Parts: sequence; C-alpha cells; structure tokens
Amino acid sequence: MKQDHLIIFDTTLRDGEQSPGASMTREEKVRIARQLERMRVDVIEAGFPAASNGDFESVKAVADAIKDSTVCGLARALERDIQRAGEALRGARSARIHTFIATSAIHMEKKLRMSPDQVIEQAVKAVKWARQYTDNVEFSPEDAGRSDPDFLCRVLEAVIDAGAGTLNIPDTVGYSMPGQFGELIRDLRNRIPNADKAVFSVHCHNDLGLAVANSLAAVLNGARQVECTINGLGERAGNAALEEVVMAVRTRQDVFGCETRIDATQIMPASRLVSGITGFAVQPNKAIVGANAFAHESGIHQDGVLKHRETYEIMRAEDVGWSANKMVLGKHSGRNAFRTRLTELGIELGSEEALNAAFARFKELADKKHDIFDEDLQALVSDEAAANTLELFKLVSLKVCSETGEIPSARVVIAENGLEKDGSAIGSGPVDAAFRALESIVNSGAELQLYSVNNITTGTDAQGEVTVRLSKGGRIVNGQGSDTDIVVASAKAYLHALNKLHSKLERAHPQV
Ligand code: KIV
Ligand code: ZN
Repeated sequence: MKQDHLIIFDTTLRDGEQSPGASMTREEKVRIARQLERMRVDVIEAGFPAASNGDFESVKAVADAIKDSTVCGLARALERDIQRAGEALRGARSARIHTFIATSAIHMEKKLRMSPDQVIEQAVKAVKWARQYTDNVEFSPEDAGRSDPDFLCRVLEAVIDAGAGTLNIPDTVGYSMPGQFGELIRDLRNRIPNADKAVFSVHCHNDLGLAVANSLAAVLNGARQVECTINGLGERAGNAALEEVVMAVRTRQDVFGCETRIDATQIMPASRLVSGITGFAVQPNKAIVGANAFAHESGIHQDGVLKHRETYEIMRAEDVGWSANKMVLGKHSGRNAFRTRLTELGIELGSEEALNAAFARFKELADKKHDIFDEDLQALVSDEAAANTLELFKLVSLKVCSETGEIPSARVVIAENGLEKDGSAIGSGPVDAAFRALESIVNSGAELQLYSVNNITTGTDAQGEVTVRLSKGGRIVNGQGSDTDIVVASAKAYLHALNKLHSKLERAHPQV
C-alpha cells in the first residue's frame, strides 16, 4: 500500500537556537544545515531574518548553501519582517516563508492588543506579502493550542484563500494533551471548507513532556508535516525531538500509515554535531540518541538479545547511526583512504587545502591513537571547522603539571594574530590552571558558564570532546575542542569560545 509522505520540518536553527545559551554562529548554522540536508530533512527553518543582521546573514548563508532541502525563514505578520525573509532567501533553490500571528484570546488582548478581526486581516495581508516572494508560504496561528477552535477555523480558511499552502498548528506553550490535540487537528481539517488545499502541520513544545506524543496524535489525525528539532532542542523545555518522531513513524508504520524520506543513519552524527555546537549534552537515557538507548544492563535482557535481538530491541542501533566502533583507519592509511571514508560519511571538505589540513590532523591523531573510528573522523572535521573560524587566538603549546599533594600549574603559549605570547597560572586542577593561564594572556573578563567533556568513542585512548560556554556583556558563546588529551581539548575549546566572543564583540561595535 502506498504510504503518505510525512514532511519533516526541522527548526533546530530557529526555535532550537532560542534555547538560552544555544546561539550559533553563521558558520555553525551552515554546518548543521548541511548535516540536515544529508539527513534528507524536507524543510530547514534557518532563522528569523528580521531579528538581527546576524540572523539575516545566517539565513542567507544557509539558503545559498543548501540544494536538496527547502530553506525557510520565519517572519512576524509584518511587511518589513516578510521583506527581510524574502531577501534573505533570495539565493535558495527552494524557499519558504513562514509567517505567524497569535490567535489565542490572551495573546490577542494582552500582547498584540488587536481585535480578532484585526488579527484575521493582518494574517491575510501577511500571507499575500509573502506570496510576492515565493509561492511556498506557511502560516501559523501562534498559541493555537489555547485558541478558540471556531476562531481558528475563520483565520485558517482566510489564509488558505490568501495563498498559504501549509497551515502550522503550534502548541506554543506545551499545554495540550495528546487526545485533545489530535481532535483539534481532525476538527480543523473537517470544518474548514478549503482545508484540502493545504497541508496541516504541527509544532509542539515540551513543557509537560508531551511534544512528541502531541505531534504523533496530530499525525494520526491527518497532519502531514511535523516541526521538530534535533535532540528536542528549543525554547524552554524544547520542541518535539526529530529523531523520536521519525523513528516512531518508521517503527510503527502499521499505526501511522505514512513515511518520511529521512536517512536515519545520519541521526547520530546530527545529534552529536548539535550537542557539540550548542553545549547541550544529551541525557544518557534519551530515546534514540542517548548513550544508553541501546545498552542492555540486566542479565535477562542481555541473554535475550544474544539469543535473538528482537526479544528486547525494536530498532537496530546501526539504523540510527550508532556505529559499532569499527576501526576504519589507522596510522598507515593514506590520503585516498581518508578521503574515501569522509565521502562515505557524507563529509565534504570543500577544497583540496581543507582536505590536506584535515589529513595532517588525522596523521597527528593516528600517532597518538591506534584505532581511528568514524566518530573520531567526524570530531576531527568539526574541530578543524571550529579552528578555522575567526582565528584570532591559536593554541601553540601547553604544559601542565599535576601531582598528588601539589598545586596544579599550567604554562601556555598562544599566537594572537600570529604573535606568540605566553602565560602561566596555578589552579584547583589542570584544566582550571590552563584556563587561568590563558586568561593571564587574554584578560577577556568572560564568565565561564559551562564546561563539559564527552568521550567520542570508548576506552582511555578515546578523544575527549570539550564544550566551553563563556558569557560577557550579555553575550553567550560556545567553544569546542577535541583531543586525546582532555586538557589540550579544554584549552582549544576555551580559545574557540574566546575567538567567537571576540568576533561577536567586533560585530556589535563595527569599526568603520
Ligand atoms: O512555538 C511557536 O508558536 C512558534 C511559532 C513561531 C511557530 O515557534
Ligand atoms: Zn516554537
């Protein structure tokens, strides 16, 4: 039987970025967008172009880079917002404008101070403005979960007539219950006379832990687009997790009767990339992408899985991109093998110079670490991309002394704009000492908000991937670094964050 297509609309780069501390640079957004494209996401919401020049530039960069997914920009129902979105998306092979206005009584009265009729009029104008830039227009009645269904029917009928092809029903504050939300979708589809001219979409927040359940209830009632994010990132408690929605629909095709075009083997690389860039660690028991998602602890379960995998497993770890830590390359592997494996992993480096630089780093790593796994290659390329951006400060060397009963100390040499400088400090541990030594040179005055270390593969020779979050003057940045030596990885991550902070400070006060 032919299954319906369920459109996967990823909003990691827009709603996901609204998580406090998850802000991303333009280059990071492009890197994530490329991974989403590789995963075959249908629509990538790249940002909110009218929010700031930085947002505009990021949406434009994603629109220019992505070929196989539709790129979408968010806009309030205001002419200027829509114009900015239209301009940012000009280079996209396939562009969508997503415009929204609130429809719940509380939002209309207290926030917009508009009457219901004014809201309908504004919504219709917004869709018509957006249609001047693209015929792919999505409309959202914000806070639909708490809006009057009769009023929703009026607004939605009017925006379909105005040219909206996708109607997105957001549960903005995560208030709905699955049965109720599913019914709302069914009622809207049944009651709106021109409902067959639009695709119904849902966008659920996770305040009560029901974002995925509500999204799936909507799919059962005819929604054919789900808005979601990698690892469930997003405003407050987050959005529906893409990996959970996709794997639920795939694993239970008997229930949903629809399918996505997602390449699920790209889920784990996407999850790692997003958590590395944002510094939002994935909880170990998180479905699909948590470290324990496929680990069996109890003897009875282990015995069952060994006898017949399906006794306790409903999905295969490798189908969602968990690799079996297969040794792929080693010290003696050549440039060609390296390039071939990157291509197999879907990683394009863009130029011969970038390939050569990554290969040189691979050789350095292979000298320190005997077995190089796929995850090491992914981290190495991410680290290279991180280091290549905005490089004002670069780590030259680091020496740390840590001995039982002694105070740890660090001496670090960095190049600042090519000029070598050194600093020393003591600290409560080697990482603390290294950060203090860096600060003795840079004097950034930034506050350390988050420090986290993850092992990329297993074993004590694994690379550590460090995320450092710094804040200064209300700005927050995340830096990443990886190395087999976690103190070195930490220093790289700290410098990466400082480089980003510096470029953000410069952007805020441009020198004319
Ligand atoms: O949660 C929400 O209502 C939104 C809209 C802009 C779709 O993010
Ligand atoms: Zn949202």
